[in-house]
Amino acid sequence: MTLERKGAGKFRTASPSDTERLGELAAPALADGDVLVLTGGLGVGKTHLTKGLARGLGDAHPVTSPTFSLMAVHDGGRIPLFHFDLYRLEHAYELEDTGIYDVLGYEGACVLEWGEQFQDELTDEYLGVLIARVEDDPDARTVTLEPHGERAEELAAAVDAAVRGSC
Ligand SMILES: Nc1ncnc2c1ncn2[C@@H]1O[C@H](COP(=O)(O)OP(=O)(O)O)[C@@H](O)[C@H]1O
Ligand SMILES: [Mg+2]
Repeated sequence: MTLERKGAGKFRTASPSDTERLGELAAPALADGDVLVLTGGLGVGKTHLTKGLARGLGDAHPVTSPTFSLMAVHDGGRIPLFHFDLYRLEHAYELEDTGIYDVLGYEGACVLEWGEQFQDELTDEYLGVLIARVEDDPDARTVTLEPHGERAEELAAAVDAAVRGSC
């Protein structure tokens, strides 16, 4: 396990399981109403991070990408985790059909893949999680927390503290 903390809210993972571990460490900090927007392109590790979040909340069911169903709920843990993958959504008006407005910012924690394209229609209070590939190492990623709003700042600090305590 080589999950590293590179600075405040900035981490480096050396494998898919490290990225899952990061999610697992972050999960205890999640509260009802939290929104995480994961960005970084196809195959960067957004779903792996979400797997870790679900596991860390105590949901034992496997997490797969809800690319076709758009939304998956993992409600076997401490709080529900609503996992949205908006990759296939073309128009903002289609958001209504995903059920996102029923839960976003209210119930459980929401994790959005490809949410940034509809940022204006969603929420301006969220924790951005930027995942990026690392040159010369196909199995490494950097993960940077970018909080928007007071609660997101608090959440980012709690996640940072959890990682700091584990490294
Ligand atoms: N450090 C890493 N963290 C996460 N995934 C990684 C890492 N290194 C390699 N990978 C690979 O990248 C892919 C990430 O897939 P996935 O989590 O589904 O991405 P996304 O949801 O962003 O499209 C997987 O094939 C995984 O094995
Ligand atoms: Mg995905």
